[in-house]
This record gives sequence, C-alpha cells and structure tokens, in this order.
Amino acid sequence: MPDTSQDNPRRAAITGVATYVPDRIVTNAELARTLDTSDDWIVTRTGIRERRRGGPGETTSTMGAEAVRRLMAAKGLAPDQVDVLIVATVTPDMFFPATACLIQDQVGLQSTWGFDLSAACSGFLYALTTGAQFVASGVHRRVIVVGADLMSAIIDPLDRTTAVLFGDGAGAVLLEPAEPGFGILDFLHRVDGSGRNDLFMPAGGSLKPPSVETVVAREHFLKQNGRTVFKFAVSQMAESVERLIDRNGLKASDLAVVIPHQANQRILDATADRLGLAHDRMASVIGRYGNTTAATLPLALDDLVRAGKLERGDLAVFVAVGAGFTVGATLMRWG
Ligand code: UT7
Repeated sequence: MPDTSQDNPRRAAITGVATYVPDRIVTNAELARTLDTSDDWIVTRTGIRERRRGGPGETTSTMGAEAVRRLMAAKGLAPDQVDVLIVATVTPDMFFPATACLIQDQVGLQSTWGFDLSAACSGFLYALTTGAQFVASGVHRRVIVVGADLMSAIIDPLDRTTAVLFGDGAGAVLLEPAEPGFGILDFLHRVDGSGRNDLFMPAGGSLKPPSVETVVAREHFLKQNGRTVFKFAVSQMAESVERLIDRNGLKASDLAVVIPHQANQRILDATADRLGLAHDRMASVIGRYGNTTAATLPLALDDLVRAGKLERGDLAVFVAVGAGFTVGATLMRWG
C-alpha cells in the first residue's frame, strides 16, 4: 500500500526494537579454564566480561524468530501486517533456504516476503538501508529488519585470538513511514574487498567445498587478522561518522549518542577520541555480550531505549565496520 504522507522526501523511521539473547552466560573465567587466556587480558584488551551462547536447538533462526515475536507483541502487530523481513547474518541456519524463510515460518508471518543479506558486522546497517528504501519509496509500510548471529557455530574453541571475542544474539527493528523531520535522515556505505583475507571463513563455500582436509585444517572456523582489522575499524568508524554528519551540516557535539558496532571497547574509545566525544556518548554493551556480529547494533539500541537514554528529537548515528571490509553509518532523528 503506497504511503500517502506529505513528508517529502518520504523517510523511514525505526518505530520499535526488540532483542533476544540465549540464557547461558559464558564468563571470561570459564574460557580461561580451557584456553591460554585470562579475565585480565580479555577485559583490558577488549572490554568483554561475558557473552551468551546458544543452547541445544538454538540457531540463528530461532533467536531471530524470538526477537521478531517480541517486537510484534510490543507493537501489537498481527501476523499479516508485516510486508518484508530482511535478515542480516553470517551464520544462517543453512546456505539455503534463507534464514528469512525459516523465521517467517516459525513466527507464522502470513503476508511477508523477505531475504537474507550478508555484510558481516555491517549487516544490520546494510539491511536497515535496504529496508528503509521500501518504506521511502512508498511500496511497503512495515519492514522488519533482523540482525542475528550464532557466532558459536563458527568460532574455533581452540583459538584464543577469536574464541574470547564473539557471542550469540539477535535483534529486530520495525521500520515504518516517519513523521516529518524524524527517522533515517541519511546513510553511507562502503566496501573494500582488499580486506577479504583479514576476517573470513576459508572453507565451506564454492571456493573450498567441505572435505576431510578442510575439516582437519579447521577451515570451517572464522579467521581474523586482529591488528589489521582493528586499525581499519578505528579509522573508518570515525571517518564515516564525520563524513555523514559533515554533509548534513552537523557537528559531533550535535549527536546525543553514537551507536557503534561492538567489537572492542578500545575501538569505541578511540573513535570517541577522534570525534572529540566523551566516551560515555558511545553506546556500549560489549561487556555483557561480546561481539554478536549482526546483532550488536539492535542490542545496543534496545539497551539505550530501555534505559531511557534516547529521547524524542535526539540525533544519533549508527556506525559499523566488518568483514569484507564493509562499512556503514546511518544518521537518524529519534522519535
Ligand atoms: O567485528 C568485526 C571487526 N572485528 C574487530 O573489529 C576486531 C578488531 N581487533 C581487535 O579487537 C584486537 O586486535 C584483538 C582483540 C583481536 C586483539 O587485541 P590486540 O591488542 O590487537 O592483540 P594482538 O593481536 O596484537 O596480540 C597481542 C598478544 C599476542 O601475543 P604476543 O605475540 O605478543 O606474544 C597474542 O598471541 O596477545 C596474545 N593474545 C592473547 N593472550 C591472552 C591474543 N589473544 C589472546 C587471549 N588471551 N585471548
């Protein structure tokens, strides 16, 4: 049904957020029992104190479906009122069918089409931008964007350089036509495929189909060149926020909050320093959840909303850097 609002240009707004994380908490001390690591190293180098791990039967689709159910309950949405479902993930239940199909079926959405989108830690923002276009064009009125990752499925439990960083979780937001002056005001994205070997999963795709050799070589687990990704993330997070606010005639001090992808507290602090913002103006939930890839931004947004830290009219920027490399930033006026 086309949007007939007088707002020109038409915009989409996030009008609801809900999340789901598994019950099981894995502390740094628990990881230090099987890995050559320590609570002190993990907290000092990353800010992470604990993360969640899915239990038996939990998958990316079951976590995403629960986040969608909670969102629909909070917004009072009936199963036939969602037009599109976009799922950002790097840990789909299977290569195909798409996780969006599995969530649609589990939730019983009756008039929805949807698809998955792969942009790693920037996935939620790519999906948000994509979903916002359907609303802005007037083609659809209600889009649900899910960011969900069961990172424990692709983490090498023997690799201390990555096993301590990642966690499992899911978040969902509702996009609807915005009131004039509110909603998603601008976005920017970038890909730089020269980073393809700095954060990736070597095998399981068409390049290296699964074989005994790939399993023995542990190539079905995520690999990361941490220092390279760290440097890229610090420079790109700050630069992306600056470019986005500059071209909208804004200064960092105009932002109520920056909602960054949660990979490392040191990246958040360094980004805040580059932007000249106090560290507490960067939303942070990394201590509780670690890096949940596509789920970090809805988890951080939900935390802000629940804490009453986002008020109507506040300007906020999401920003993310992820495997690929992929980059995204979104400017919005909350309301
Ligand atoms: O979400 C997608 C984007 N991802 C990111 O943004 C992640 C970016 N990278 C990072 O956050 C950081 O690079 C890490 C947290 C991954 C690593 O921190 P770092 O300060 O860059 O450490 P490093 O890789 O330079 O390693 C320093 C030392 C090494 O030992 P040596 O070579 O100095 O003897 C590592 O082997 O720390 C060692 N180390 C550990 N020690 C204890 C690495 N992991 C651990 C560990 N426990 N878990």
